[in-house]
Amino acid sequence: MQTEALPIVNRFQLTEDPDTPFPQGVPWVRYQGTYKDLNISLIWPGKDPTLGVDSVGTISSALVTYAAIQALQPDLIINAGTAGGFKAKGASIGDVFIVSDCAFHDRRIPIPVFDLYGVGLRKAFVAPNLVKELNLKVGKLSTGDSLDMTQQDESSIIANDATVKDMEGAAIAYVSDLLKVPAIFVKAVTDIIDGDKPTAEEFLQNLAAVTTALDLAVEQVINFINGKCESEL
Ligand code: ADE
Repeated sequence: MQTEALPIVNRFQLTEDPDTPFPQGVPWVRYQGTYKDLNISLIWPGKDPTLGVDSVGTISSALVTYAAIQALQPDLIINAGTAGGFKAKGASIGDVFIVSDCAFHDRRIPIPVFDLYGVGLRKAFVAPNLVKELNLKVGKLSTGDSLDMTQQDESSIIANDATVKDMEGAAIAYVSDLLKVPAIFVKAVTDIIDGDKPTAEEFLQNLAAVTTALDLAVEQVINFINGKCESEL
């Protein structure tokens, strides 16, 4: 979302690329800049051309990840965003998690092997030294295209052993695996799914404050990555 992207754009003094590498007419935006020894591109899927709201969800994120990898050939992807968290699994508002595994919870295909395809479990690039050095929490992520959670979603999320729930991660993990670009997932908790507040209300209430925590964590992650090769992360 724009609210998640802009603090990071400002922190790294990135500027919008006037020669967008993306097809004409798509809302996807690339901000770019250099920071220390790194070339950073921040890709924001932009606003839905018809409805004018942020293009959240798996379709936009998979498309934009594919297009960005094709155009920019990155060494590493960082998917930074907000997520719902489960207090039963140790999540609190404002916590920042590094994701160890990504899976879907709303792609139910009850046919042998297709069931596993639907879940789409993929390991994230966990970067053990980064997790240790920055003292970040690690948890599994479950992704679906809804902010709320049906009972069937809940059963799948429990089966996925997820601590955090978002609307993009597993789709980005799919593309990163397909094109063999390592991806680190940084997720900041805006709402407690197994709490007593309505999700949409709690999410909107905490969004601005939690994006500050996210932005600080992304800065720490980028500072740690700077000057290191993949095997040192
Ligand atoms: N992003 C932030 N909170 C979320 C939730 N509860 N579900 C999915 N995506 C989210």
